[in-house]
Amino acid sequence: MYEDRIRRPALMEKLMTAQQAAALFKDGMTVGMSGFTRAGDAKAMPLALVERARAAPLRLTLITGALLGNDSDGLMANAGVVARRLPFQSDAALRRKINSGEVMFIDQHLSETAEQLRSGDLAPVDIAVIEAVAITADGAIVPTMSVGNSASFAQQARMVIVEINLSAPLALEGLHDIYLPQDRPLRGAIPLVSPWQRIGSTTIAIDPARIAAIVITDSPDSPSNALPGDAETDAIARHVIAFLEGEVRAGRMGPELLPLQAGIGTIANAVLHGLVASPFRNMTMYSEVLQDSAIELLDSGQLAMASASSITLSAAVHERFIRDIESYRQRIVLRPQEISNHPEVVRRLGIIALNTALEFDIYGNVNSTHVGGTHMMNGIGGSGDFARNGQLSIFVSKSVAKDGAISSVVPMAAHVDHTEHDVDVLVTEWGLADLRGLAPRERAPLIIEQCAHPDYRPQLRAYFEAALREGGQTPHVLEQALSWHVRYKREGTMLR
Ligand code: COA
Repeated sequence: MYEDRIRRPALMEKLMTAQQAAALFKDGMTVGMSGFTRAGDAKAMPLALVERARAAPLRLTLITGALLGNDSDGLMANAGVVARRLPFQSDAALRRKINSGEVMFIDQHLSETAEQLRSGDLAPVDIAVIEAVAITADGAIVPTMSVGNSASFAQQARMVIVEINLSAPLALEGLHDIYLPQDRPLRGAIPLVSPWQRIGSTTIAIDPARIAAIVITDSPDSPSNALPGDAETDAIARHVIAFLEGEVRAGRMGPELLPLQAGIGTIANAVLHGLVASPFRNMTMYSEVLQDSAIELLDSGQLAMASASSITLSAAVHERFIRDIESYRQRIVLRPQEISNHPEVVRRLGIIALNTALEFDIYGNVNSTHVGGTHMMNGIGGSGDFARNGQLSIFVSKSVAKDGAISSVVPMAAHVDHTEHDVDVLVTEWGLADLRGLAPRERAPLIIEQCAHPDYRPQLRAYFEAALREGGQTPHVLEQALSWHVRYKREGTMLR
């Protein structure tokens, strides 16, 4: 029946229902699941595990590429299936469990998880669950809309469950480039010197004997939940484009720019969308996620090609992508996240990294993850991989959140994901602060005057003046440094 999808006849006997495959799981196991920003995630097995957990306790360590779609993270969290979760999530229900301490969340750089598994720093994966377009005649797996950590999971797990998704077109085959680094310490250089380059194979090779079950599904990926841009994201995009035009004029890059990385979420998507109206041509992307904006830039011809680890699209753009898959396949490469985010490659290619901050402080330290300094939002994702190693590290944010009650520019970031050393440029709808070559005392006035909302500038100026009286390389009034966060908690606003 599924000969075009399971091309190794001997594996037909591994076909079973998701409920039957769920019986393979044991309490306390470590499970590696495909899925990266709502793309390429297993659809049937999470539901079957939720059902299984109703019958007997099942508490798992769940590792993925990044966040799952189809509410799987929330459903599994609510069913008590997830005891530990890494390396990224973005689900309201799971977030609540993390912040209440019921789920232990290990927030990791997305390039590092596979490496830590390989080196034995993390417990080995017992079962890998990988969504696939097909299994080839030699038993290799053809991934769907993401690669994420699937190749590493499949290589390392004791057992592999393959979820064949009939809604994923066979034409996706050939989109992927699977290459994994060799074991340390005798590892050679990753032979990738251009975003276009293919350095591996189009499928995930595994020993077919480790395929313990094959499950059939027919459910599409969840559509992207990035919201459309607004006046503020348009203004942010204009500042970024004007800055990049200046970089071209200064001769620091050509009109095709350097390979672009853009983070997840509404703001980064909207900023990238703004590039459609820019003069840049023949651009490339070397990113981890492609959102609608990347497809728009490919369609407009401004983007020559895009390399990433997953493709997460709205329903309408997904339909267009699938219709013209043959053409996009010539210009898109999906890689393991270890390669899409690899520090060695990011440094070599000289990426322009564009990521979003929740808040940043007057010296340029960025908080991307912790609301109010304590509560997890999503995770650091790949922002650290790119921000530290790229040629240019740009962070964007709206200047205020929650109708102005929160300033995104604060005296001291209440949690730091990206230190001042990894941040070159900060942008809000009000303006752009180019921090390159500036000391902390020079950065602060620029950040306050260029990026802060005008309502908050007097408070920030007053803080900085008081801090200067205390002295230091990075002056602070320690008694007041986090007082804005405390005021928001107590009074519902940071505004004095
Ligand atoms: N304090 C509290 N909440 C804040 C805040 C702050 N300083 N700044 C923003 N928020 C809230 C917004 O109000 C919004 O809340 P809502 O969902 O209740 O409306 C939410 O955070 C999202 O903010 P938004 O302005 O819509 O930005 P976004 O959708 O672009 O997401 C991040 C911003 C930072 C949450 C997101 O980019 C992220 O998770 N980044 C970390 C991972 C990453 O950078 N990966 C990059 C490689 S893919």
